[in-house]
Amino acid sequence: MKKQIRLGVIGGGDFSAYHLNGIENSPNAVAVAMADLDRERALEKAKMYGIPEDSVYTDYHDLLARDDIDAVTIPLPDQFHKEATVAALRAGKHVLCEKPMALDLDECKEMIKVAKETGKQLMVGQLGRYTPAFVQAKKMIDDGVIGELFMIESEYAHDYSEIGGNGTSWRITPEREPIIGGGCHAVDLIRMIAGNPEEVFGYANNKCLTTWPIHDCTMAVMKLPNGVIGKVMTSTGCKRNYTMRTVAYGTKGTIIFDNKTPTISLFKGHFTDDPDFDGYKQRELEVKLPVVLNDHNFGGEVQDFCRCILENEPVPTTGVEGASTVAVCLAIVESFKTGEKVKPDYNF
Ligand SMILES: NC(=O)c1ccc[n+]([C@@H]2O[C@H](COP(=O)([O-])OP(=O)(O)OC[C@H]3O[C@@H](n4cnc5c(N)ncnc54)[C@H](O)[C@@H]3O)[C@@H](O)[C@H]2O)c1
Repeated sequence: MKKQIRLGVIGGGDFSAYHLNGIENSPNAVAVAMADLDRERALEKAKMYGIPEDSVYTDYHDLLARDDIDAVTIPLPDQFHKEATVAALRAGKHVLCEKPMALDLDECKEMIKVAKETGKQLMVGQLGRYTPAFVQAKKMIDDGVIGELFMIESEYAHDYSEIGGNGTSWRITPEREPIIGGGCHAVDLIRMIAGNPEEVFGYANNKCLTTWPIHDCTMAVMKLPNGVIGKVMTSTGCKRNYTMRTVAYGTKGTIIFDNKTPTISLFKGHFTDDPDFDGYKQRELEVKLPVVLNDHNFGGEVQDFCRCILENEPVPTTGVEGASTVAVCLAIVESFKTGEKVKPDYNF
């Protein structure tokens, strides 16, 4: 029985290093080819990860034409995800496409349709699903550790001022609102824990990256299933360290966690008989639970992708999952543009 998936990596930019490193550390995966318009850039990475020079392409269709490649990962700029995914699926490859799945829902729909037609697996790289603190927090909530969830807030605070370069970065494309590009991580985390938002309302402004044609701060509130309230803040100009700080409030406790701290804080309400404890009869106790730090766990993600292909199981983060997160982000954009509440369109 086949034990390893042979992968091509399409896109040789900054994030491809996470892909190549993750693949290198996954026993069920091996990177055998890569493609980038910039051959030198791709060659440099290929050399570091043992991909032969004659398996580096400037046109990814040449990589897709190879019969000895089972699947591809796609760390291309967001606006090219659909085109490359569709081409790869039609060439008979399974696809692990970076987040956000695409920048509009028509593109997402086409990707889902072609995956169905070809019978190939399409997974979307919503990496938060493999961040240990997020996985552990979800399990605690599902296990009832904080009682019934009534409110969850998450944020994507990541200063892009040094990432935009001279203004030519694909991050500055007008349709890539930060709530779609980076904020999708926080939206996806809320969906993973509390389900699909039924309705959203958003505000946005632009006070930090003032030369960028997009907003740098977005705030959204959401009506989640079972009466839970959600809130997502995205800032790509804020002056602080990168974080995805998240707070889940339940009727019996609260969990605070993020992607950069090696502990999860759990607060539980306790009644006390302590005679020295003046003031309220109830006090909160904080317990810090250790958690492994692995913010960009692409290794975990690609291993799971390859395991599903090898075992012929559906991938966990399907095209519909990726598209649902895009749908919520687009609904937030529509809301802050129109000033109205918006119901995300999950009709794929
Ligand atoms: N999951 C995460 O946490 C995370 C973090 C960073 C980036 N990303 C995603 O990864 C993707 C890539 O981001 P990046 O920072 O590596 O971008 P990048 O600009 O550093 O690299 C993109 C590369 O794609 C190449 N390229 C563009 N068009 C091409 C084409 N038609 N054929 C072949 N190569 C082409 C460019 O030459 C460039 O080298 C984006 O979708 C981004 O959203 C995800």
